[in-house]
Amino acid sequence: MIDLQRLRRDFPPLNNFVWFQNGGVSITPAPVAEAHAGLMRELFERGPMHIAFPKEEYPRRQQTMARLGRFFSVAPSELALMRGVSEGYLTVLRGLDWQAGDRLLIGADEEAALLLPSLHLRDQCGVEVIKVPLVADAEGQVAEVAKLLNSRTRLVALSHVSTDLGWRLPAEPICRLVRERGALSFLDLAHSAGLYPMKLAELGCDFAGLLSYKWMYAPYAAGALYVRPESVESLKVVYAGGRAEKWIDFQTDKYELLDGAGRFQYGPWSWPLVHAWAAALDYLDEIGLEEIWDRTVALTSRLKNGLRSIPGLTLHTPESPEMSAALVSFGLEGWTGERLCQELRDRWKIVTRPLFHGRVGVRASLSFFLLEEEVDLLVEAVRTLARQG
Ligand SMILES: Cc1ncc(COP(=O)(O)O)c(C=O)c1O
Repeated sequence: MIDLQRLRRDFPPLNNFVWFQNGGVSITPAPVAEAHAGLMRELFERGPMHIAFPKEEYPRRQQTMARLGRFFSVAPSELALMRGVSEGYLTVLRGLDWQAGDRLLIGADEEAALLLPSLHLRDQCGVEVIKVPLVADAEGQVAEVAKLLNSRTRLVALSHVSTDLGWRLPAEPICRLVRERGALSFLDLAHSAGLYPMKLAELGCDFAGLLSYKWMYAPYAAGALYVRPESVESLKVVYAGGRAEKWIDFQTDKYELLDGAGRFQYGPWSWPLVHAWAAALDYLDEIGLEEIWDRTVALTSRLKNGLRSIPGLTLHTPESPEMSAALVSFGLEGWTGERLCQELRDRWKIVTRPLFHGRVGVRASLSFFLLEEEVDLLVEAVRTLARQG
């Protein structure tokens, strides 16, 4: 059972807002913020740790990577440190040899992290970028991907949970299908990692992008690229930076790249931030990922049920928890998303965000730390605005 009153004390900004924007950037819980601040202070008081105290810092880095691996049930060598999903996706996209006319499938509701690199590749290399429509049942969704796969499809890149509309895609059967058809798969896990227990290998993707700062509650911004061991060789290393090597000989100019995902990384990174990410995983595990998911389902269901009774309201996110996660998006007749957000913020201190992609409405992100009363407050606020017109 989550001790909400205790946990909420870890999040000082909750005194100022009703925070429905965890899907943008999470607010940082006290133990994680203290771990981060403590490590920054250590740099100040003791010096750059990997230079002044390498015997302390390097094992700590290994522990942090092992902690990340454990959280996702993968070996540390299957993770490359990155700054976020964008860097991970670009590493994959640019690591393939694209020919004009090759096909890249992306989701119909991608964030700029996947959309922009894909469109840019299209414009530079003549690659055909096709958007997979979102369908509200798992089998239908797999069928949509199947329809669009052809012999020229090299990569299928999808958000596991889509950024604007909050649709959760059936990742496993999609990735299985993509592999059977001889293409590669990339999953953007920005809105699923940290919300429930996840074994990365079981998703079946070749690559996955992770970030620290939404549902993993670490500060902005660290991230990682997961690379399935069998898929390492399908990507070329475009940037062989000074952290990709197994060894390098400065006399003979010979080198060997790391065997696993590490060969794709170059850094440098703020290690206090990366260590703080590992501390955030301890924080989440202590609460319990099953408990976090149960609460996410309870709160999102409560919001969806409440919103459904409001005249003029359209729910954009699927109702079923199997097809959605912690994001709930909706539109209100007669209201732009921007006006709705502004009004919610000005009158009730409720922080949401407007939808992108030319859609009209707002997105609410529901963290475990929200109270039932706060969800009801959002419903009643929207009802008031609906009446006002
Ligand atoms: C689905 C999704 N992917 C990726 C990102 C951001 O990735 P990055 O910070 O690496 O650009 C976001 C949101 O910020 C997102 O909603």
